[in-house]
Amino acid sequence: MKIIEIEGQKELTGTIRVSGAKNATVALIPAAILTDETATICNVPEITDTDALCDILEELNVTTKRASESIIIDPTDMVNKEISEEHSRKLRASYYFMGALLGKYKRAEMHFPGGCSIGARPIDLHLKGFEALGAKVTNDKNKYIVEAEELKGANIYLDFASVGATINIMLAAVKATGTTIIDNAAKEPEIVNIATFLNNMGARITGAGTSTIKIKGVEELHSCFHEVIPDRIEAGSYIIMGALCGKKLKIDNIIPEHLDSLISKLEEMGVELNIGRDYMEVSKPEKYNATNIKTAVYPGFPTDLQQPFTVLLTQSEGKSKVLETIWENRFMHVPYLNNLGADITVKNQTATIIGPRQLKGRTVVATDLRAGAAMVAAGLAAKGKTTITNVEHILRGYEQIVEKLNNVGAKLTLKEI
Ligand code: UD1
Repeated sequence: MKIIEIEGQKELTGTIRVSGAKNATVALIPAAILTDETATICNVPEITDTDALCDILEELNVTTKRASESIIIDPTDMVNKEISEEHSRKLRASYYFMGALLGKYKRAEMHFPGGCSIGARPIDLHLKGFEALGAKVTNDKNKYIVEAEELKGANIYLDFASVGATINIMLAAVKATGTTIIDNAAKEPEIVNIATFLNNMGARITGAGTSTIKIKGVEELHSCFHEVIPDRIEAGSYIIMGALCGKKLKIDNIIPEHLDSLISKLEEMGVELNIGRDYMEVSKPEKYNATNIKTAVYPGFPTDLQQPFTVLLTQSEGKSKVLETIWENRFMHVPYLNNLGADITVKNQTATIIGPRQLKGRTVVATDLRAGAAMVAAGLAAKGKTTITNVEHILRGYEQIVEKLNNVGAKLTLKEI
């Protein structure tokens, strides 16, 4: 197991460069197999989720070449076969191979994907979308076979604006005959990035970023060159850490517009921000005002920043509330924050935080990816030494987190025990 030790209360100053977005990359890599030619994707983060997807590509006999943040994917000799349970279980996003393989071969065979235990995480909306396009889904225990004689464009209404279902249906529909319309589609920036990639390959997708996406099926997709957008969740996590311990900490290579909901909450709390075109400078204020947040689909407050943001709320004066509306099991960080000295109670998907409370270093667990980022934020703010265990979860989604923070004055040590 890997652990991170943090000596807290160091001032963070200097520049952190944000990497390419994990949640875009994990869809772009499976999407690349839709062409028979080579796709080049740059600004790819070096995280273990990227490695796990490359393992699946290897299993399917797809060649990958990785060099300095870019990846060249060559599916010339690709074989469509069952993706092993060992590989699909490593990450949630392995399910994008379902849509991509279905779109390319009209058949996908794989197991139920793994990922963070932040809720039940059903895939019914993905499967309903595939069925609407003409696919038949058979499911034996954990294994799914999705196949179609022909994929035909359809009108699909999503009961919930699911990120995963929106992307997976786009992947399956891009080579279908006729036109597919996804209504109540998710509007996250990562969806726009995937649609742009597919269009660069010759797809005909319009409306990505709005709640209605139209996909006119095409017969062939060709090679392309594409850049992953900056990771708004990684950026937001470091901005929150800057609000806790920063002195003009610069978070570089960001798209500020993607962070509007976080920015307005930070301003409400009295955090000093200097926002440029593609960067933000953040400093710790003298005191923080209490505030309430409610997680929501984009452009609402992202559930993925809820856990790190809760750490900041432990430092604000008075009572703050956090309502989690997306995932039913996303308060696993709370007992550990309380262990460090926070005063948080959770009832009916709402956390009530009383502050300010001085956090004191102890041993805590990274129960999932973003809870892990919350533990890092707490460790930076806490007095003394914090030890975080199970940091494999953090390394799935934060490229070089230890190096990036140490470069700006933090004191983190990554150890294997
Ligand atoms: C993606 C992100 C994740 C983020 C989430 C919400 C990736 C790889 N992960 O996850 O970091 O927390 O968006 O912003 O991009 N649902 C169903 N049926 C389905 C699909 C989803 O009921 O078939 C429900 C889920 O249980 C959840 C909600 O819809 O309550 C949101 O899920 P979704 O938007 O699909 O999240 P993911 O794509 O899994």
